[in-house]
Amino acid sequence: MTERERAQIRARLGIIAPCPDGARCAPVLVDTGDFMIICAGVGPGHLDFLTHGVAELIRGADIVAGFDAVIEVVRPLLPQGARVVTMGYQDQVARLDRVAAEHHAGRRCVVLFMGDMHFSGFQYLERVERACGHPVDTVPGISSAQVLAARGKVCFDETTFLTFHRRGDLEPFKRHLVHVLADQRNAIAIPRPWDFMPKDIAAWLLAQGVSPGHPVEVWENLTLADAAWRGTLGSCTQAFSDMSIMLIRALAPMPSQIEPPPHP
Ligand SMILES: C[S@@+](CC[C@H](N)C(=O)[O-])C[C@H]1O[C@@H](n2cnc3c(N)ncnc32)[C@H](O)[C@@H]1O
Repeated sequence: MTERERAQIRARLGIIAPCPDGARCAPVLVDTGDFMIICAGVGPGHLDFLTHGVAELIRGADIVAGFDAVIEVVRPLLPQGARVVTMGYQDQVARLDRVAAEHHAGRRCVVLFMGDMHFSGFQYLERVERACGHPVDTVPGISSAQVLAARGKVCFDETTFLTFHRRGDLEPFKRHLVHVLADQRNAIAIPRPWDFMPKDIAAWLLAQGVSPGHPVEVWENLTLADAAWRGTLGSCTQAFSDMSIMLIRALAPMPSQIEPPPHP
């Protein structure tokens, strides 16, 4: 890839320069130098959901890193000669230290995230930045939440996204989900394997007095072998895999607010 091509990719993706003091600041397009490390999203499950920009970043990388499931999706794009650093939950910190060392040695590194890192990906981003010792720019991907919104035909305006797939205290997020449903909004929720899965989310909501009548869908392996279960909060008692995502619909869909149809 030529320097000119790289500059075009940087400009299109809006790769930003870090502030002088290391804090994040308003996006300023970088017009000199080259990216050394970048975090990029890989749409769920299939190359059809990968943007051209991220594909180009992968093709131009010396080091491509990410969780095994994500690396598998982009394997056909990996450039010959690129080093691949795969990782799992247990060894991610040590592996990211290796990636950071390659980055500090001047190699172009792309760290791949599942879906869009701005939904349920910030703890991993924090680990990348901690390993590097500085902020790292992000290029969004297509989220499993977006694919679910398309499959379930719900619009973002009337839907709140929540993830329980995070380390730490879930209580504020659980409380927020109750408020979301009380506000007559849909919720798209990522469960936490394995202690707060769809059946646990349903049981917890029922215990908070939420109506068992909310329509619920749980989708597994979106874009791979899509499988959907449909029922209600009250009947959501079965087990699902860790590749599942949940849609809890508002009890009453919002009425249309567009102009009435013209009279015949
Ligand atoms: C750490 S979260 C990352 C989510 C990702 N950032 C996104 O935007 O989709 C991982 C969880 O997302 C959900 N997920 C990701 N891809 C999925 C898919 N293809 N089908 C269903 N759920 C998926 C699963 O609940 C999985 O355990």
